[in-house]
Amino acid sequence: MNIITSKPWDSKSLRPTEEKHYLNRRKALRQLGLATGGLLTAPLLGLKQRQKQNLDFTFVGLSDYFPADLNKRYTLDRPMTSEYDATHYNNFYEFISREDPNIYNVYKFVDQFDTRDWRFEVSGLANRTGVYFLEEMIKQFGLEERTYRHRCVERWSMAVPWTGFPMKKFVDFFGPQNGANYIKMTSFADPVVMPGVRNLNHYPWPYTEGLRIDEARNDVAFIATGLYGKTLPKQNGAPMRLVVPWKYGYKNTKSIIKFEFTKEEPTTFWNQVAPDEYPFISNVDPTVPHPRWSQEFEKMIPDGEQRPTLKYNGYGEFVAQMYNK
Ligand code: MTE
Repeated sequence: MNIITSKPWDSKSLRPTEEKHYLNRRKALRQLGLATGGLLTAPLLGLKQRQKQNLDFTFVGLSDYFPADLNKRYTLDRPMTSEYDATHYNNFYEFISREDPNIYNVYKFVDQFDTRDWRFEVSGLANRTGVYFLEEMIKQFGLEERTYRHRCVERWSMAVPWTGFPMKKFVDFFGPQNGANYIKMTSFADPVVMPGVRNLNHYPWPYTEGLRIDEARNDVAFIATGLYGKTLPKQNGAPMRLVVPWKYGYKNTKSIIKFEFTKEEPTTFWNQVAPDEYPFISNVDPTVPHPRWSQEFEKMIPDGEQRPTLKYNGYGEFVAQMYNK
């Protein structure tokens, strides 16, 4: 069995990683077409080289970076959703289980998903590519808290405090090359620990989404690693997810395992499922109805209080200039 048991980046402070953890990650990466033949040989070689250049990097675990300071630039026009509601009403198709017909009850089925020592791959038209640890990024960029509105295409809405780092810092660190117009994001997908991936096999797994590079560099675009001052709950997309609150919720890719800088607009999960319902751009707009319902109003979780939908979900002052050219 080609399992790595002793790892050069292990340190005293790094929790020993169980074999099943590697098996799960390996399976998911194989689904992404990354592990052909040997176990991730090429990306791990890059990782070893970087570890050699960066010998002072030790793992302490993500929770040690919390809580983070609030960025006061982003304010809410409504009460914050309760932590209980934001973590018990979640859209995460990978975890939909036949055991509970309510698709928003995914919190019940996330226990086996192991998000420790998370790494992700960066590929395509970028100056830095390879496999990176999320914790390296947090060390590099630091963390801040932001309170954002959150609007699902199905019309429910919330207001929540995310912790994370600006996506701009992340994009600039990897350095898109000339011709990189988009960034594609891919979620972890493992049928062993994710009942939805196992059972909903008519869907085009893994979940993918994308942004234009200028959108990814907008001040509001955020990579969240936490919620309510703690590490992200699994049902909310642990340990790293996208947060782009001026777009409908489905753009907010959860549990990201791969970022790819591309020339062409990437295909996305929901666009493949229903192209006329889920366009790539998907900015919140009350004047553009979904083909099956109006988008003029939204309903706040948990009591369904209705509010008029705001263009760009209220983030026009930050994002409108990208679309008014
Ligand atoms: N990411 C993945 N991988 N799988 C999903 O099913 N659902 C999307 C988005 N990201 C989804 C996903 C949708 S439709 C919404 S509204 C938000 O996650 C919900 O985020 P929340 O559960 O934190 O509120």
